[in-house]
Amino acid sequence: MNEVIQKNLQYKKYVIDSNLEYFKPHSTKIEKTFAEDVSYSLNRDSKFISPKYFYDKKGSELFEQICNLPEYYPTRTEIQILKKIQPELEGYLDESFRLVELGSGSSVKTRLILDVFDKIQDRIEYFPIDISEILTESSELLQKDYDDLHITGIVDTYEGGLEFIEKYDDKKNLIIFLGSSYGNFNPNDGKIFLKKINSVMKKDDLFLIGLDLVKNKETLENAYDDSQGITAKFNLNVLSRINDELDADFDLDNFQHVAKYNEKDQRIEMYLKSLANQSIIISKANLSLKMTQGELIHTEHSHKYTLAQIEEVMNQTDFKIKEIWLDETENYSLSLVSKK
Ligand code: AVJ
Repeated sequence: MNEVIQKNLQYKKYVIDSNLEYFKPHSTKIEKTFAEDVSYSLNRDSKFISPKYFYDKKGSELFEQICNLPEYYPTRTEIQILKKIQPELEGYLDESFRLVELGSGSSVKTRLILDVFDKIQDRIEYFPIDISEILTESSELLQKDYDDLHITGIVDTYEGGLEFIEKYDDKKNLIIFLGSSYGNFNPNDGKIFLKKINSVMKKDDLFLIGLDLVKNKETLENAYDDSQGITAKFNLNVLSRINDELDADFDLDNFQHVAKYNEKDQRIEMYLKSLANQSIIISKANLSLKMTQGELIHTEHSHKYTLAQIEEVMNQTDFKIKEIWLDETENYSLSLVSKK
């Protein structure tokens, strides 16, 4: 039994080849099932569906399309900033860093960072953390392009994966959390999550986070309600998923995609609006649902930040800011921080 297994008894190790291995927990820690979640979140006056359920196969494909929409600036802007800061990032790294990614990453952004590692390291270590086994596919693709890349995937929740990293060894980590995924957290839960990241970091570790910035309402609402209706399809797809996986009879024509910017709470709010008085049966959630015309199902919050708020949040969660990089339009930000 090797050392890693001894330190991480709760994980099973799968070795694919000398450059690719995965760790998966023996049992997932009491995660609620899709049916249990839906039966709780729709069986109440203010209905919601967690945004984590957007990403079945179809939903992930639609999200890829969103990232390429003219109105959806975050992805392209983040890529633009990453390209610009590659030389600066290189200055912060040395041969003793490894890359840890929360989420298994749209390969483009991961590659831009791996390219920086490639310039200064003969052997690159990359640890993607993702609950979905998509990780295995994206890892195999990356391997084709970097021959000195050693991938250790962790198929677990972010929290589980972070604890795994903490116990793993003494190597320095650059942890990245891109794409403004942090925006899905409400500010309070977000801070708890940042404190978790901080708590597993070593003194010389670095953390790079992409955050979307507050801007005019029109730009924001267009980004989440595009003219081709792709975001609408993405939002409605969660109902198809419930139909397929939980044996339900949602009629998608009876629902409408809604995306509104709430200026006070600085967030895009997405909903599915019922266009009629209707009943829906969700067999596998044991639910017979009645909805009235105009009633909303909340599906996502996407929070936006000001620079002052980013500084404040980092300070409150015991981080020290090394850099905050913006694009020229100041639409989007990347922050590099370390432990205070
Ligand atoms: C994946 C959460 C970053 O909030 O911009 C895009 C998801 N939803 N369009 C975002 C999303 C609708 C996206 N995040």
